[in-house]
Amino acid sequence: MAKNESSVGLLLASPPADLELNQWLHRELRAAILDRRLKPGARLPSTRQLARQYQISRGTVTTAFEQLRDEGYLEGQIGSGTYVAKDIPDGLLQARGMAGISKRTAHSRATLSSRGERISSTSLAIKPVTHAGRAFRAYHPALDVFPLHLWSRMVARRSRQSSRILLAGGEPAGYRPLREALAGYLGSMRGVKCSQEQVVIVSGIQQALDIVARLVLDPGDAVWMENPGYIGASAALRAAGGEMVPIPVDKNGLNVRTGVNSCPQARLAYVTPAHQFPLGVVLSLERRLALLNWANEARAWIFEDDYDSEYRYSGRPFPALQGLDQSGSVIYAGSFNKMLFPSLRLGYLVLPPRLVEPFVAARSIVDRYPPVLDQAVVCDFMVEGYFGQHIRRMREIYAERRLALIDAARSELQGLLRVDDLPAGLHTNGWFECGISDRQATAAASAAEIEVMSLSSFGVGRRVPNGLMLGFATVNPAATKAAVTRLAKVLENLKRNL
Ligand SMILES: Cc1ncc(COP(=O)(O)O)c(C=O)c1O
Repeated sequence: MAKNESSVGLLLASPPADLELNQWLHRELRAAILDRRLKPGARLPSTRQLARQYQISRGTVTTAFEQLRDEGYLEGQIGSGTYVAKDIPDGLLQARGMAGISKRTAHSRATLSSRGERISSTSLAIKPVTHAGRAFRAYHPALDVFPLHLWSRMVARRSRQSSRILLAGGEPAGYRPLREALAGYLGSMRGVKCSQEQVVIVSGIQQALDIVARLVLDPGDAVWMENPGYIGASAALRAAGGEMVPIPVDKNGLNVRTGVNSCPQARLAYVTPAHQFPLGVVLSLERRLALLNWANEARAWIFEDDYDSEYRYSGRPFPALQGLDQSGSVIYAGSFNKMLFPSLRLGYLVLPPRLVEPFVAARSIVDRYPPVLDQAVVCDFMVEGYFGQHIRRMREIYAERRLALIDAARSELQGLLRVDDLPAGLHTNGWFECGISDRQATAAASAAEIEVMSLSSFGVGRRVPNGLMLGFATVNPAATKAAVTRLAKVLENLKRNL
């Protein structure tokens, strides 16, 4: 390698507070490769040089290099020179949306706005789904038992019988009969207090977060973020310019006192009170009241993400925080994408009265209004009683699948992973007992075609948990048991090589 092909002197943006250093380095180097600031074949500075330049440990640099090598961006051995891969597959370039763009126009000199830069550096890595359901997928409902026949009959009926007016257009706030059905459902099932005027339909909680963030945050505004917490939320809030302030979560949920002491002036707090994501704890009543009190005094907003609260397997479901709100601070969000199926892309918000008009205005700009026929089918499903039946049936199926996972894990993963028995939701967590890191474990599991997520990937600040998130909803008990056996082999192997 000629000296001038080396990339010594490479300048990277400084690490944000809410990202692990190895994740930051991985992201920056990957961006430099995809933008061709680091050309194919270029030699990277040594781990020692990079560590010194950015005052980080060599271990951090090595972890980032190894991940980039596993992903095909880098070649060569650490210690004997690391180079940018000569042939970066098209699939990798697609990650930046560059595929199919001619070389001549790909490097336009026109630039992104600072908002555009922020958005493109915080996107979620959504990969194409190649299996309808695999063991341990933590964020999907059971599609193998979804009542597809009934659903297709209802879709066909709507398409056949819809009045022409339904084909002509919709309202930005959503299909009125669905909003009315939701107001009734949320009042009786979740203790939400609202009129149907406060209910708006969105494509999911993700869109709700994006629009709300744009309405209530200015760049630089502080946001309380649960730590660990949902990456989709921090990405949307960061993309709007929010500065994440990680607030620890303990057995009573978000530690409100820490938030009040460390950042009383925050503009927004993101919380999952019914079932904290990913730890699964419930926000205690005392903390709920303290949170509402702070929001009222600080004139801040609370985003309540009630993503899968319908699924609780013991005890009574805790009603929504929104039902306790006297000052109009809580923005409540729920999703059909977890209760029915992910590609449906329909969810809902219950807005404080002050936010209804601004939200409807924003929605009209984003895409005018949500797709009307899909909303009408969901409305029929609710009004004709199938939705309630579906939730009850799924709760039974999930209870059985949850037990199967916990039983198998407790007998086969002893000494490797200590598995919680979270009483709600679609996943439980396992904590390493033997010095394995969750990143190592997810990489090794993925090589053995086992889908698990590391809990550390949900860490917002420097302190990150070390464990695995294990979904139990997507496959039946027999498949779960077989997958636990395979996971045990992978972890045993890692433990032996520690
Ligand atoms: C905690 C949490 N909130 C929100 C969402 C996203 O919901 P939606 O699919 O409705 O956008 C997810 C998705 O997995 C989630 O885990």
